[in-house]
Amino acid sequence: MSVPKSITAEIAQLRKELEQHNYLYHVLDAPQITDQDYDRLFRRLQQLEQEYPQLVSQDSPTQRVGSAPASHFETVTHEVAMLSLDNAFADEEMLDFDRKLRERLEQEVELAYCAEPKLDGLAVSLLYEAGELVRAATRGDGRSGENITANVRTINSIPLKLRGDVIPRRIEVRGEVYMEVAALAALNRTQLESGGKVFANPRNAAAGSLRLLDSRITASRPLTFCSYGIGQNEGVELPLSQYRQMLYLRDIGLPISRLIERLDSVSACLKYYRRILSAREKLAFDIDGVVFKLDNIAWQREAGFVSRAPRWAIAYKFPAQEVTTRLLDVDFQVGRTGALTPVARLEPVAVGGVMVSNATLHNMDEILRKDIRIGDLVIIRRAGDVIPEVVAPVVQQRDAELELPQMPSHCPVCGSEVLQQSGQAVFRCVGGLFCAAQRKEAIKHYASRKALDIEGLGDKLVEQLIDLGLIDSVADLYDLTLEQLCGLERMALKSAQNLLDALDKSRATTLARFIYALGIREVGEATAEALAKYFADITPLFDADIESLQRVEDVGPVVADNIRHFFDQAENRAIVERLLQKGVNWPRGDAGQHQQAQTLAGKTYVISGSLEGMSRDQAGALLKARGARVSGSVSAKTTALIAGDSPGSKLAKAEALGVEIIDQTGFNRLIEGSLPGDE
Ligand code: IVH
Repeated sequence: MSVPKSITAEIAQLRKELEQHNYLYHVLDAPQITDQDYDRLFRRLQQLEQEYPQLVSQDSPTQRVGSAPASHFETVTHEVAMLSLDNAFADEEMLDFDRKLRERLEQEVELAYCAEPKLDGLAVSLLYEAGELVRAATRGDGRSGENITANVRTINSIPLKLRGDVIPRRIEVRGEVYMEVAALAALNRTQLESGGKVFANPRNAAAGSLRLLDSRITASRPLTFCSYGIGQNEGVELPLSQYRQMLYLRDIGLPISRLIERLDSVSACLKYYRRILSAREKLAFDIDGVVFKLDNIAWQREAGFVSRAPRWAIAYKFPAQEVTTRLLDVDFQVGRTGALTPVARLEPVAVGGVMVSNATLHNMDEILRKDIRIGDLVIIRRAGDVIPEVVAPVVQQRDAELELPQMPSHCPVCGSEVLQQSGQAVFRCVGGLFCAAQRKEAIKHYASRKALDIEGLGDKLVEQLIDLGLIDSVADLYDLTLEQLCGLERMALKSAQNLLDALDKSRATTLARFIYALGIREVGEATAEALAKYFADITPLFDADIESLQRVEDVGPVVADNIRHFFDQAENRAIVERLLQKGVNWPRGDAGQHQQAQTLAGKTYVISGSLEGMSRDQAGALLKARGARVSGSVSAKTTALIAGDSPGSKLAKAEALGVEIIDQTGFNRLIEGSLPGDE
């Protein structure tokens, strides 16, 4: 089939445009069209190439999808050896390096360097002939590596064709293939879902992806590339400056580091090091240091090499963020909410510049997923200010049968049961009220507004009281004396007395608030209210079985379980009993929803002003127990306003709307002699 001229032209035009946009995106970091527009051009080219397969060429932007699996990798001998770098770990070593180089070159002047980050990936060599990518190889042992051309062709930031006016006959570009942090995280997520291998770091991910015999899989891996040098070359006059050589690579279409700089002196190098180190966490990719190369190429040649590394370049390494060490043991820490977190006890090791002997293991699921065993050699990571974590075990180094850490059945702090909620990864201690790890939170919760609403008992004060040993549990609150409180920091006589008054006042509460105040997991206000309505007292809850608990509105198997386990701890029950002895009370005589006649069902009341012998909350509870709704504001739907002493503006509103108004006597009649002490 002959090809119309217009098609040949359109294909050429599309390729040119796509190459230009690739360059703008990957090399100049300045895209000019949206991804959708790019995809549209790409699909059009694919469609034309499908219709006219004779026009498909190896360097077409569409030819990056990978090809049929190979049986092995061919060996490639590097014509110019791929060297490694000497390292520096401190400023003095950098100064030493610079001084020796100046002596060798017999230079009095400051030496200029080309600086760029040291990427954490895999070194590759790319060979272009007449502008076309003809071969890609791994570094291997520096003399010979593996031919990975099919895999490398799938990396979008590596041009299949060079651009510009001065295309060399032959040029070998060297650089690093790596994976950005976010891309690695996304890859690991999909690997996990598909049961595949999880990569501990970008270097492993890059190496693992490039050494696949099936390049179609490599094509799905988010690899990227950055050039850092030139190997052999023919037919081009290269600039005699390292920095300008790199700019030349960028001109012919290759990505170079955005952080590359030409620096005038070694002291500028030290500043650059600090600048990049402080930006490290913000970069999209992992780096393990910065590389400085003597900028003057003629002097590079003069300086030469020692064994496998050039004398004219050095890597000034950052403190490692990842190291390996031995996992000695796993302890379980109880958090403020009772969650048990596994903590790794490690053979002390320096990570990211500090000594580390503990690291988090997150939760039990993670331990099982990663198959971490006590005694393993493990990879520890500490990035920035983040808590050090155990990344993975080094399974190849496991030479004995090692045990998986076991979640304890009882809380290491208080000895209560440890419970895992169905469908959740966390295990928790159920000793809510008395577990030392949880008691600050338990007391703060007890005093909070929706619980017993103890005014003046803020978080700071709770912490002080516990830290000074004045209280151990909520029950101790009612034993506090004026003397003790006056002795506290920033506590005047007046506020101490106010707090005692508030504590005293908090004794008169409602059953629902009291149940909520106990801080049983997942028992919020609504559930507490439903439980109060159903059981009408606290003691029936001590022994209620799972079935009867589940009969309560809103209470499912998980919440029922939580309640059961809470009251199964004798200590929790003892604290509740002590609270009752201290005078915590609510309106009695109310026999519970299942026995109390719902005489006020369908009615809505508003309570205003103060009632005799009970709080508004208590009065509301009595109404609710009889099926009424209690609202905070008067409207046309209000059945009646219950007006105590000084009822305020609500009375006026009720009058205006013609809503019935009930006084104390009327209220007593409404609830039929069930006032506290009336029985
Ligand atoms: S230059 C003659 N520059 O580090 C100098 N290497 O330890 C040869 N690397 O195998 C290397 N970033 O994989 C150079 N900006 C950079 C680099 C870099 C990462 C790696 C590379 C090399 C190893 C040497």
